[in-house]
Amino acid sequence: MTANPTRRSAPTPTRGSPPRAAELPSPAIEVRDLRKSFGQQTILAGLDLTVRRGEILALLGPNGAGKTTTINILSTLLRPDAGSARVAGFDTVADAEQVKRRISLTGQSAAVDEVLTGTENLVLLGRLSGLSARTARIRSAALLERFDLGRAGAKRVATYSGGMRRRLDLAMSFVVTPEVLFLDEPTTGLDTRSRRDLWDVIRSLADAGTTVFLTTQYLEEADQLADRIAVLNDGHVVASGTATQLKTQVGGDTVELHDRHGSLLRELPTDGSVSDLRRALDLLDESGAEGVVSLRRPTLDDVFFALTTKETR
Ligand SMILES: Nc1ncnc2c1ncn2[C@@H]1O[C@H](COP(=O)(O)OP(=O)(O)OP(=O)(O)O)[C@@H](O)[C@H]1O
Ligand SMILES: [Mg+2]
Repeated sequence: MTANPTRRSAPTPTRGSPPRAAELPSPAIEVRDLRKSFGQQTILAGLDLTVRRGEILALLGPNGAGKTTTINILSTLLRPDAGSARVAGFDTVADAEQVKRRISLTGQSAAVDEVLTGTENLVLLGRLSGLSARTARIRSAALLERFDLGRAGAKRVATYSGGMRRRLDLAMSFVVTPEVLFLDEPTTGLDTRSRRDLWDVIRSLADAGTTVFLTTQYLEEADQLADRIAVLNDGHVVASGTATQLKTQVGGDTVELHDRHGSLLRELPTDGSVSDLRRALDLLDESGAEGVVSLRRPTLDDVFFALTTKETR
């Protein structure tokens, strides 16, 4: 992805005979025909999804599509009605304890202790996760710096602003490095700088091998950060791929002719070739109008509108 040049590409298999199935590591997340209803309301109607190790996957979908429900099932907080989900090689129902040991989750709303200071929250979690007192303190100080909370560390969380709380909550996810990290709308409520800082943290974690499964309402975020995007609608994954693949799926590029007031005169499908542009210029000449020729590629917004419906809301 252009905005993310440092990301490693998937390891290329060595030449010669392909590796046998037994040698291939299992995917970080493997979801098969997952189903979940609340009362009469079907939320997940047979979800299929695979996430490779070290990959950043962004799950997109309208409000109420079931993104949080999916994360809750994958992180063992909720039992599916049917189907299966394996995380880090273990079944989320049968081997829930094994899964819990390998994951970390930041939910949609902050889960930090108000009465404690930022430092105390981080150190406590570090100790509970098995770090020595010294390591927990060092780690906590580094994370407070990383999330721009250096000076706030000694203050009680009750005095924090909404964004500071959110950043502390996110820092908690990084106390121990998980195999799979779940982030439910991690950047909601963060200012632009904090959002970019978090992207950096997420990228470096993924570069070191952690798999990241995140949800977001920000299409730009999915575009910039994720290796792959999955779109959830009406209980199914309706599309998945890189941002570019999804854009191509929704429709190709078009050449647009506008008059000088900006009104659209013509729209022509194109593969971006010079001959298409020349034809567009000729058409503009023939029409006798003064105007502009521009190339338009579908945006992720177009993808989102084309693939999702309002009914789930
Ligand atoms: N415990 C529950 N009991 C009953 N209904 C629930 C429960 N949890 C979620 N739902 C319903 O399931 C649907 C999906 O909810 P979910 O939170 O997974 O959506 P979402 O995609 O995360 O939405 P958002 O973008 O708003 O966060 C919603 O209609 C919600 O009201
Ligand atoms: Mg949600």
